[in-house]
Amino acid sequence: MKSTILYTSDSFLVEGGKPLRGEVRISGAKNASLPILMASILSEEVCLLNNVPDLLDTKTALELLESLGAKVEFQKGVVKIDPKGIKSFVAPDDVVRRMRASVLAMGPLLARFGRAVVSMPGGCSIGVRSIDQHLKVFERAGAHMEVKHGYINLELKEIKPVEYTFEVITVTGTENAFLLLSKCEKRSILRNIALEPEVIDLVEVLRKMGVQIEIEGRTAIIRGNPYLKGFSHRVIPDRIEAGTFMVAGFLTGGDVILKDVRVEHLGSVIEKLKEAEANIEILDLNSLRVVGKGDIMPLSISTSEYPGFPTDMQAQFMVLCCLAKGISEIRENIFENRFQHVAELQRMGADIHVKDRLAIVKGVERLYGAEVYSTDLRASASLVLAGLVAEGSTLVRDIYHLDRGYERLEEKLKSIGATIERLPQRKP
Ligand code: EPU
Repeated sequence: MKSTILYTSDSFLVEGGKPLRGEVRISGAKNASLPILMASILSEEVCLLNNVPDLLDTKTALELLESLGAKVEFQKGVVKIDPKGIKSFVAPDDVVRRMRASVLAMGPLLARFGRAVVSMPGGCSIGVRSIDQHLKVFERAGAHMEVKHGYINLELKEIKPVEYTFEVITVTGTENAFLLLSKCEKRSILRNIALEPEVIDLVEVLRKMGVQIEIEGRTAIIRGNPYLKGFSHRVIPDRIEAGTFMVAGFLTGGDVILKDVRVEHLGSVIEKLKEAEANIEILDLNSLRVVGKGDIMPLSISTSEYPGFPTDMQAQFMVLCCLAKGISEIRENIFENRFQHVAELQRMGADIHVKDRLAIVKGVERLYGAEVYSTDLRASASLVLAGLVAEGSTLVRDIYHLDRGYERLEEKLKSIGATIERLPQRKP
């Protein structure tokens, strides 16, 4: 399986002013699919994963598995991986550069081969994003580490059990630790772990593979198994895609029903939307309806680890605040540089002042269409949302980022009444 699309720099042309109405099915979660795909490295048996979103990032993860020697098939949301043939423990630079989450190959490669060579991820547009916590767990497990020619070389003789308290709560750091310790028979204890639904979905898979994991509060006790089985699993719905469509429905004064969501994962997003005076009806455990009544009330938002308000929804909610009846405050606590959408929203007429990690957003009467640039995945989503409600047309350039994380975004938006068109990159 070779990925056909590598980088696109297509644009979206969005026509503002149409209330969105109808039903949308939410895709499987990108950030749950990626660590689970990497978990297949731990086994020699066939692994089946359902509800995998067809995205640049998931294709890159499959390409990485193939480059290591796995046989991979991806059809209609179902991934079949035969990891028997994995012979390499090197995650090449070009893949890691395209997708930071490739660092998730480190734990399972180290567990399987006692070695992992993974290109050192650099900083990225939303911040420095150190991986020191991943490496500290690996070192406690007995790994010797060296950085040479831009690659992290890890080597260990046997996986020692670990007792470690994470200094910061990290999603992929927790996942990498679980992935490595899954092959250590002795009991490990990890404290201050991330509890994001995507982490718990990986835990479900590791349990299916034969690992014992108990979680109480932010503490996990892991008893691994050197012989891990294959798995069959359905990925949880993408709570960030769901949140993005909820904001779209409310923002445009529409009436949108979301299907295939996990309402229990959307607590803090639902709470903030209700505070802004969205009308939200929980239809059942897996579907809900969002109705916009016109006015949007200002909000005070502070991002934090799950179950707090997700950093991945901060940019989208900022668009709501831009049009709220008053002054909102948004504090970004997870990443130090995640306000890049601000400059683009200002081009559309937003009134936002940023001081360090705090954005003060004064609601304006309306936003105006403009040419804007995507900088990262969620910032790009916020620009599309702004375009949906702006006066006139908005050209969102460089939607490569959106293609990494939103499955068929324009088709889904069109199906509920948006006017949005993909303009392919002009050939030189
Ligand atoms: N951090 C450290 N040391 C570490 C690891 C993290 O200091 O070893 C810091 C980071 O610099 C950051 C904070 O801890 O300030 C949280 O980072 P975390 O490790 O939790 O982020 P991540 O695992 O790299 C995942 C998601 C992100 C999401 C964050 C926070 C995946 C593949 N990515 O990243 O998703 O924003 O958790 O919830 O799961 C996105 O989908 O758009 C996205 C960026």
